[in-house]
Amino acid sequence: MEADIQQIVEEARAAIGQADERSLMTVAAGFIGRKAKLTEILKSLGGLPIEERKHIGELANQAKLAIEEMVREREGALGMQQQRQLMQRDTTLPGIAPVVGHLSPVTLITRELTGALTELGFAVAEGPEVELEAYNFDLLNIPADHPARDQWDTFWVRKGKDSKTSTLLRTHTSPVQIRYMLEHKPPIRIISPGRTFRYEAEDAKHSSVFSQIEGLMVDKGISVAHMKAVINHFVKKVLGPEVKARFRPSFFPFTEPSFEVDVWFGDKWLELMGCGMVHPQVLRNVDIDPEQYSGFAFGAGIERLAMLKYDIDDIRLFLSGDPRFVEQF
Ligand code: FA5
Repeated sequence: MEADIQQIVEEARAAIGQADERSLMTVAAGFIGRKAKLTEILKSLGGLPIEERKHIGELANQAKLAIEEMVREREGALGMQQQRQLMQRDTTLPGIAPVVGHLSPVTLITRELTGALTELGFAVAEGPEVELEAYNFDLLNIPADHPARDQWDTFWVRKGKDSKTSTLLRTHTSPVQIRYMLEHKPPIRIISPGRTFRYEAEDAKHSSVFSQIEGLMVDKGISVAHMKAVINHFVKKVLGPEVKARFRPSFFPFTEPSFEVDVWFGDKWLELMGCGMVHPQVLRNVDIDPEQYSGFAFGAGIERLAMLKYDIDDIRLFLSGDPRFVEQF
């Protein structure tokens, strides 16, 4: 039996020395596990005379300890101990909360505006950012030679002779009016938030990429009174009931009469949106009879609303990509 024990230790030394991270525990179990030879020897000690039992028992225990030590050494050599320590976690410690992102103020205001207008029955419509020249200009009563085009310096995507195939980055959300009215007939009540693009000289109040929300209501008997009620409703809903808004006469080729809406901003009026009654020619362009139907439309700058609401003094911050800016909202 002594020789057997000796042999087991030698075999274990050779096998453990060769084992890798995956096989180490199985190899070890083959020598000191419940069904291993050494364990069998320890179990059979009961049948031996007392002196021999003591002697063999001691040898077998020493062998077991020696093999356990070999396993630990091998683990150390394979770097497993370190790995095991790393894996030991205190599961009672509080977890590490993931960093949650922030909604941009433009998204927040868009959601508030959408809420304030859908509660009045407006549906949300969408249009593409790369738009046909015909929808951005011609059908909105802005033909190629119209001086109003100069107001909207344009990023052209494909400029050709035919406005039905020429494309540009839309300069406002008003082409969504055209798209919608070509597909649907009155009664119409839609809003359309989205990004718009102009080749601007940028400053604190003007950006080349900004967002607008368009509104359009067409039905029988719609008047300026309806328009003022709707605009006052959402301006007060987003900026607060005490806010002062004024309607100033203005000009847009696609509305008649036209207005600009300004809101009192600290110590001065800030232009927030254009609006007016949909021009009869625009209705004719989309096959709606202006003798029967009338409507109003508005287009508001979303960053401008956010600037008023959150007291932001420079529009360029919106696209700065600075997390310190968005994290404040
Ligand atoms: C228009 O874009 C018209 N389509 C609005 C309209 C719609 C009138 C329907 C009538 C009927 P305007 O160019 O004024 O109009 O722009 C509308 C609003 O967008 C402005 O009042 C302003 O709030 C915002 N805006 C315009 N240019 C910029 C800019 N460069 N940066 C940030 N906001 C701007």
